[in-house]
Amino acid sequence: MTNPSLLILPGDGIGPEVMDQVKRVIEWYGARRGLAFDISEDLVGGAAYDAHGTPLHDDTMARAQEVDAVLLGAVGGPKYDKLDFSVKPERGLLRLRKEMDLFSNLRPAQCFDALADFSSLKKDVVAGLDIMIIRELTSGVYFGEPRGIFEEGNERVGINTQRYTESEIARVARSAFELARKRGNKVCSMEKANVMESGILWRDVVTEVHQAEYQDVELSHMYADAGAMQLTRWPKQFDVIVTDNLFGDLLSDLAAMLTGSLGMLPSASLGAPMANGRPKALYEPVHGSAPDIAGQGKANPIACILSFAMALRYSFDQGDEATRLEQAVERVLADGLRTADLLGEEGATPVSTVQMGDAILAALDASL
Ligand code: IPM
Ligand code: MG
Repeated sequence: MTNPSLLILPGDGIGPEVMDQVKRVIEWYGARRGLAFDISEDLVGGAAYDAHGTPLHDDTMARAQEVDAVLLGAVGGPKYDKLDFSVKPERGLLRLRKEMDLFSNLRPAQCFDALADFSSLKKDVVAGLDIMIIRELTSGVYFGEPRGIFEEGNERVGINTQRYTESEIARVARSAFELARKRGNKVCSMEKANVMESGILWRDVVTEVHQAEYQDVELSHMYADAGAMQLTRWPKQFDVIVTDNLFGDLLSDLAAMLTGSLGMLPSASLGAPMANGRPKALYEPVHGSAPDIAGQGKANPIACILSFAMALRYSFDQGDEATRLEQAVERVLADGLRTADLLGEEGATPVSTVQMGDAILAALDASL
């Protein structure tokens, strides 16, 4: 039996430093839990552009299609702001999502007890929060045609197209219902059926899939703007939220911030099952490349580490080991360790990225 394979793409900004801590965690699992992975590493985003003039080399794309899972750090930075759109670092990430057909993006927003005070919302609104946003990731306005900036009369016009087929909506709806069955059994679907035809179709198809296959799951619908309002008013009313690519981008940042810090939240992007039964998969923290603090050793590695926990759960069927890692993170937070992003202005001294990694490894050791 060969080991499962992982492709690590640290990317830009704080990506490499947080990924270094994930590599230590992966080594720990190999040494202490007998979970060995075949690891390869490559460039993505600005780092790939610097080396190859493209944010994702074709060889890297091909490798991503072969492996059991991809772990990605972050892409982008001010250095690349003026690049042509087609070679911007973000295009590397979007190409991975599109060509691997990772249509279902799981973005948990979970509030760790130790951090409930850190949210900008009242503690009782967020304490114990555990919701999952499922964002459609391969279609909608991110990819719809026509798109571009065109001349029209004596001015320019910028065009993007929101486009969804029934099958694209149905497959992401199914993944939301499936996941809800393993959690609180509730799905809220969000769109703008009041102003967009694609929203009307979205609502129809989600309702049809529910009627035909998932009547045991509680389904509700909300306009996405009202959904944003309800997420800030009383987020605990939700269990699973399913929404399109653009609304999901916005709502997941909003939901993430409820929990106090973007530095805490992982994500999984899943596609159809491969020949070995595992889904095509890419795991990445929700936070970006944070160029303002890159290279200073103060980034929070937790979101990236928890992304590996999601890989254990969703790609490698190691739910118990994923829970072990999540509990190690909780332990460390309960002990009061905080990277800079988890401290207020006049807080105590923050720990470094490496110190946070040390503490999580120690908590893993203690779990044995
Ligand atoms: C995200 C990011 C990306 C997106 C960017 C980096 C292309 O904001 O993953 O949420 O808009 O999807
Ligand atoms: Mg985003």
